[in-house]
Order: sequence, then structure tokens, then C-alpha cells
Amino acid sequence: KNFNLEVLDTIDSTNSFLMKEAVNEVHSAGTGIRAVAVELQTGGRGRRGRQWHSGLGDSLAFSLLWRFQQSAGFLSGLSLAAGVAIIRALESAGIEGAVLKWPNDVMFNFCKLAGILIELHGDMLGPTVAVVGVGMNLKLSPSIQGRIDQGATDVFSIIGKMPDRNKLLAELLINLASALKEFEQKGFAPFKGEWSDHHVCASKAVTLRLPDGSGRQGTVAGVGDDGSLLLRTSTGVRSYSGGEITLCRM
Ligand code: BTN
Repeated sequence: KNFNLEVLDTIDSTNSFLMKEAVNEVHSAGTGIRAVAVELQTGGRGRRGRQWHSGLGDSLAFSLLWRFQQSAGFLSGLSLAAGVAIIRALESAGIEGAVLKWPNDVMFNFCKLAGILIELHGDMLGPTVAVVGVGMNLKLSPSIQGRIDQGATDVFSIIGKMPDRNKLLAELLINLASALKEFEQKGFAPFKGEWSDHHVCASKAVTLRLPDGSGRQGTVAGVGDDGSLLLRTSTGVRSYSGGEITLCRM
């Protein structure tokens, strides 16, 4: 695969950078799959309006641009497919044991190792621009760790040494690009089995916090063909396309 990867020193957010470039149809030099990585991201964004903290050299922060022919409605499940790609990349780099928490947190020992932020641009019918952003903790400093409000871990803690950053970034880009291509052709279906094999909350009792703030309690009954979470509640199995698992009792 041919990538058009730009590595910047510092920028607010690689997602914002690439989305601006794509929407304003700015043409970057070079051809190939467009990606941007940054040494120091000053305004990293997470899902649901949260901040994503990282410091100089302590993590990987990058985004990749993909132009889908399909409209956004087809793309539910994309973020789960991206999670599978990250697990594959970690395994290729010799980092075993990472798992997924719906919809797309990459976890190790119940602590967050990496996050994915997918942003879409397009109308209801036409093609969709997708910016897939990934932040992965490599070796968090105590000051960054102090700013993170949920249990976080890093690659250093898992393998006991600093990984080869360039090799890891290459694995991530290669695996994401092939997952995006496969998703474009076949949707989430081919990823479902692998996603489910890595699902940390499979069959567990959880509380799902919905986007409107209300909660649902139930037992995880898997994921649907569109990547939605299937939750067995007192009233039967229901499917949820948005929300956050706030508790995963082991
Ligand atoms: C989450 O878990 O909430 C998603 C975090 C995504 C962070 C990455 S870092 C690179 C890219 N640029 C951003 O501003 N966010 C994503």
C-alpha cells in the first residue's frame, strides 16, 4: 500500500486537520492513502466531546482519511471494524492480550490503551468522507496520567519497554487501511466474529449509559450486524446504536 503520510511537530488535532483538508479540498503533495501523525497534539479530541490528553513523545496520535462511496447510514459498525484493525496491528507488533470495549475502546487489564474517533462528512445520499483518528498511549508521564479521568495504561506497561514507534505506526496504518477497504466492500459482517472474540464485556452484566443520559441495565448478548450493542434486559434483547458501557462487572 502506498501512503501519503505527513508527520507534524505540533498541531491541535490530527482529526481536525485532515477533516479541514478534505472538506476544503486542499490537495496535499503526494499520492496514496492520506494520513497525518503528530509528535505533540495540543487539542486532542475524544468521543462525546471529551478531551484526549497526550504529551510529547508519550503516545501515537494520527488520523487517516477515507472516502466512501456510501452514505453515512452504511457506516455504522465502522468504528468497531477500526477496533479490530488496531487489535490486529498490536498483535503483528508482538503486543498480545488487548481487548475491545463497545463501541471501540482498546483496553488492556480493564484500562484504556487506545481510543478511536471517527468523524464523518457528507449528505444523506452521497459519498462520505471519514476521518479515522487513533490515539494510543505508549508511555504516559505521571502528569498526563493525572489528567486522565479513567483508568489508563500504555504499551510500555504491557511489554516492559518502549515499542518501535515507527513500526507500530506502520502496522496501525496498514491494518486500518485494509480494514477500511474491506468494510467499504462488505460492511461490518466480516469483522463481527473477530470483534466478538475480543469483546471484554461479552456475557457480562453492564450498565449502558445512553446518549440522552439515561441508563439501561442488562447482560451483553453480543453485537449486531451493524455494530450495535445487543443487551438482554428484563424486557428482552434490545439493540443500541449509541451509548457507553459505564460499568462492566467481572
Ligand atoms: C476516545 O477514546 O474518546 C477517542 C480518542 C481519539 C484520540 C485521537 S488522537 C488522534 C486523533 N485526533 C484527535 O483529536 N483525536 C484522535
